[in-house]
Amino acid sequence: MSKIKNIYAREILASGGAPSLEVTVTLESGSIGEASVSYGASAGSKEATVLLDGDKARYGGKGMLNAINNINTTIKSALVGMEAVEQRVIDNKMIEIDGTINKAVLGGNAMLGVSLAVCRAQADEEKMPLYKYLRKVYGIGEIGWKLPKPMIVMIEGGKHADETTDLQEFMVGAMGNKTASENVRMEMEIYDALKKILKAEKLSTNVGNEGAFAPNGIASNEKPMEYLVAAITNAGYIPGVDAGVGIDAAASEFYNEETKKYELKLEGKELTSEELIAYYKPWIEKYPIATMEDMLSEFDWDNWPKMVEAINGKFPLIADDLTVTNVKLWAKAIEIKAATAILIKLNQAGTLTETMDCCLLANEHNLLSMPSHRGGGETNDTFLVDLAVAVNSAYIKVGPTRGERVCKYNRLMRIEEELRNEQ
Ligand code: PGA
Ligand code: ZN
Repeated sequence: MSKIKNIYAREILASGGAPSLEVTVTLESGSIGEASVSYGASAGSKEATVLLDGDKARYGGKGMLNAINNINTTIKSALVGMEAVEQRVIDNKMIEIDGTINKAVLGGNAMLGVSLAVCRAQADEEKMPLYKYLRKVYGIGEIGWKLPKPMIVMIEGGKHADETTDLQEFMVGAMGNKTASENVRMEMEIYDALKKILKAEKLSTNVGNEGAFAPNGIASNEKPMEYLVAAITNAGYIPGVDAGVGIDAAASEFYNEETKKYELKLEGKELTSEELIAYYKPWIEKYPIATMEDMLSEFDWDNWPKMVEAINGKFPLIADDLTVTNVKLWAKAIEIKAATAILIKLNQAGTLTETMDCCLLANEHNLLSMPSHRGGGETNDTFLVDLAVAVNSAYIKVGPTRGERVCKYNRLMRIEEELRNEQ
């Protein structure tokens, strides 16, 4: 056991070129933990607040000095002297001090940075790899190790790439029983095959926010799925057996709350919820789909169960903006059968404990959880990988290129090697 001795935060840069923050927690024993936080480009409205300075003279208002100041003063004075092993108590303490439903006072970014750094400091104290310490501190018993499969964003549009497609992400999810490193290799071979297909189609192979291809001139919202199936085949794998297609529509971004219609600009369509579900329906039969995510808006709760019915158990429907890693919203989604899986983003929740509670609730109900990177500002922190390993998540969703993405896959392969060497 060791008490928190010091907490220190600093401003760093995230992948989009705007600031984020990094926290160092030091324990009385000398153990140290560091963590940085990411944030989204197409964030859900109920996510924990990313507290920004709003001072237009610095980074166009996107500085994080206020959040950093909250860490270095209020949070530090409240937490110094607490036992670092008491993760849940520490997170609850910050929630209590903040006192708002969306972490608007201290900032979810400030709270999360501290929460994660405390956890790493205690893992260091106990000389345990983070994924093992996470199991210990949250009382996850012996459930074996089942490493998450990569769900890699291959083509991106929407808010991530100047709306080249209305739907935000087209992914490839590994299927079958390969090892993590074999899955990574397969996915990157598929990515390479996709590059050749796009080139042959005279489409650009420049990449968007998440390191996926983001070409202008894609003919329809369906076309990327054809490309992905062809890429899986061309790389020498079997669609639907070795790898399937994942779609994140991020539909809140093209939903008009006033007209209650979905605006598919690429195809000049305005669809009601029922019409949008009917628009998706042929894809469910036609493509080897692994998962679908946010196919309807976060403001369209009533229609989500109809989408679950349309999928009819063929694959999971993942909630992202709908549930924003909030255990109450996730419990509601499970209860009314609005979704059958949850995307996990640490900064949506704003503390580690609240994030873990969402994963554990998914496990209780035998539902899939998928820890994810962020499209706006991602950092080199790999916490989400250890988290996914700790709770046996089925997938991690991370982009294929750019250092802040590939570090996650490198961490996954390293964990696999560590676990293999133990046997
Ligand atoms: P974001 O989007 O991180 O940019 O909000 C990613 C997603 O919707 O999954
Ligand atoms: Zn999403």
